[in-house]
Amino acid sequence: MQQHIDAIRESCLQELEKASTAAAVEAVRVSFLGRKGPVQVLMKDLRDVPAEQRPQVGKEINALRDLLESRCDEVLERLRSAEAQHQIAGESIDVSLPGRRRYRGCQHIVTKMMDDIIDVLVAMGFSIQDGPEIETDYYNFEALNFPKDHPARDMQDTFYVAPDVLLRTHTSNVQVRVMETTKPPIRIIAPGRCYRNEAVSARHHVFFHQVEAIYIDKNVSFSQLLSTLDEFLQHIFGRDVVTRYRPSYFPFVEPGMEVDIRCSLCHGKGCTMCKGSGWLEVLGAGMVHPDVLRNGGIDPEVYSGFAWGLGVERFANLKYYINDLRLYWDNDIRFLKQFQSV
Ligand code: DAH
Repeated sequence: MQQHIDAIRESCLQELEKASTAAAVEAVRVSFLGRKGPVQVLMKDLRDVPAEQRPQVGKEINALRDLLESRCDEVLERLRSAEAQHQIAGESIDVSLPGRRRYRGCQHIVTKMMDDIIDVLVAMGFSIQDGPEIETDYYNFEALNFPKDHPARDMQDTFYVAPDVLLRTHTSNVQVRVMETTKPPIRIIAPGRCYRNEAVSARHHVFFHQVEAIYIDKNVSFSQLLSTLDEFLQHIFGRDVVTRYRPSYFPFVEPGMEVDIRCSLCHGKGCTMCKGSGWLEVLGAGMVHPDVLRNGGIDPEVYSGFAWGLGVERFANLKYYINDLRLYWDNDIRFLKQFQSV
């Protein structure tokens, strides 16, 4: 009997040594200590052992069972902690892995366009002048030579706050304000938001941004206006930009003109962006009207000046090939994100 007990112990311990997983340990436990296993068989055989030896042999069988149980537990415990160790090791930080790129946010493309325009003009010698967005009819229209019945004064185009108070329709409102407070030479730009009572569409919005420029001094000439514009537009759209000047009418300048650049998409051949013309209109400009100078307290016999007004969204449209104004203000992150590296 004793030999039998020893043999079972040895064989079970050997099996346990081989077990490399928790499942294998459980299998050993079941095969040795389970209902049909050799230890149970020993228990049954105990009945046939002579009565005087039975207590002693019974003890030995119990000891065998306890030993094997505790060995199984030990091995199981050891395997489990090794497995846990292994998992932790597997989760450890791999410093050679490339990092995950995070979206850092960026300037809104209209703000960026505005800043680029301002930077170029400041470098050319203009300083920045602020003006009110809520404006009187006088500075927005009257002082700028708009006749009383001019269609722009109509309720259709202008948001009125009170009979003579409105949301400025252009940054030209700053012109006479700055003349009133500054002695020539005046060399300022007025960037800012403007408003018009328009149905919102791909081409129109109820608000937009302009940068007004005005230069007044003795002997300011039309050719200076042209060369200043050429220089400015080359900085914004590239050295190879081609400009075209067309006569046009604005009540506050004489002569007035519209300025086009050659279409950057088709290089003048004609495409959908330039509607087949090969040219893109970029701004309005002209020589400040003598009446406007007078309204600002400046003598047109002594001084002359030029001015222009440009649309910032229009510039961004042309530079980044954007064909719908609504995109700027929808705040769709997929649109805004595209300008991270601009
Ligand atoms: N204020 C005009 C507009 O909003 C643009 C403009 C045209 C401004 C000619 C000027 C100018 O200063 O000389 O359409």
